[in-house]
Amino acid sequence: MGSVTKNKWLKYLFLKRYPPLAPYLPETRKMSPHSFWTLLGKYRHVIVKPVWGSRGRGVIQVSDLGNDNYAIHYERMETVKQGRENTYRYIKRIIRSAAYMVQQRITRPTINNRPFDMRVIVQRKKHSSRWVVTGKVIKVAGKGYVVSNNTRSHGQLLRFKPGIQHSSIGHLPIAALESQIDKVSLRSAKRLNALFPGHRIYGLDIATDPYGRVSIIEANLYPAMSHFLKLKDGVTYRRILSYKRSKYIHYRSKHIHYRSKYIHYR
Ligand SMILES: Nc1ncnc2c1ncn2[C@@H]1O[C@H](COP(=O)(O)OP(=O)(O)OP(=O)(O)O)[C@@H](O)[C@H]1O
Ligand SMILES: [Mg+2]
Repeated sequence: MGSVTKNKWLKYLFLKRYPPLAPYLPETRKMSPHSFWTLLGKYRHVIVKPVWGSRGRGVIQVSDLGNDNYAIHYERMETVKQGRENTYRYIKRIIRSAAYMVQQRITRPTINNRPFDMRVIVQRKKHSSRWVVTGKVIKVAGKGYVVSNNTRSHGQLLRFKPGIQHSSIGHLPIAALESQIDKVSLRSAKRLNALFPGHRIYGLDIATDPYGRVSIIEANLYPAMSHFLKLKDGVTYRRILSYKRSKYIHYRSKHIHYRSKYIHYR
């Protein structure tokens, strides 16, 4: 038995059952032939992924091509199977006995024809209840991959603004998009705080569709710092670290706050 912190299904349920966030969570069910065919029928594309997965391992995309043909995209391989039985059997051979779930696929926008999503870091300082977005990075899937995991897919990392500007959603108003992403990410952290009191950092996997509508793919409790190192974004990296190590900063900032108020009034 693993910990709840890494259980994608339980974290999904906890967010989905919170009405203000429910519209931002793609429909997800525990994997079974029934749930799989229901969601594939409804959305035409689904993502099948392990409940205990990490780093994009075991993630499979399935698409309904019509005429009883189904495309299965796993790692860099894309196979077309005819008939439901063949299709499910093929997926089962990848899944084996692992716990899996099936999720509505978000049609992501692209950069150089590769889909991308983002990682948003949300943190609070020790003894503070104020959640802050401290980092954001665009993850572009590597050639031939569905997953945007940088190491697995040999993908690309980009800073938020230039990334969006060079993407297929570059025409959307970027400030409105960013504020929507921040709002959904902060709301997720506040909600998860009830399940993980004392936890002070979340890494949200956020995707948008071609209209800039935001979806939460996953909430990670132990987000990697490597994204910001690889990006050579020292400012963001240090901000995240300073929040992690914020033992005395709360007191000090309060002190500075009072002092600046004092100076201001004088
Ligand atoms: N519903 C979805 N729609 C579109 N893309 C998805 C969906 N679910 C997952 N993906 C893609 O697959 C990647 C991996 O999915 P997920 O984050 O759920 O698994 P993971 O193993 O935890 O990966 P990581 O450790 O990189 O976050 C996502 O970052 C995204 O690129
Ligand atoms: Mg993830």
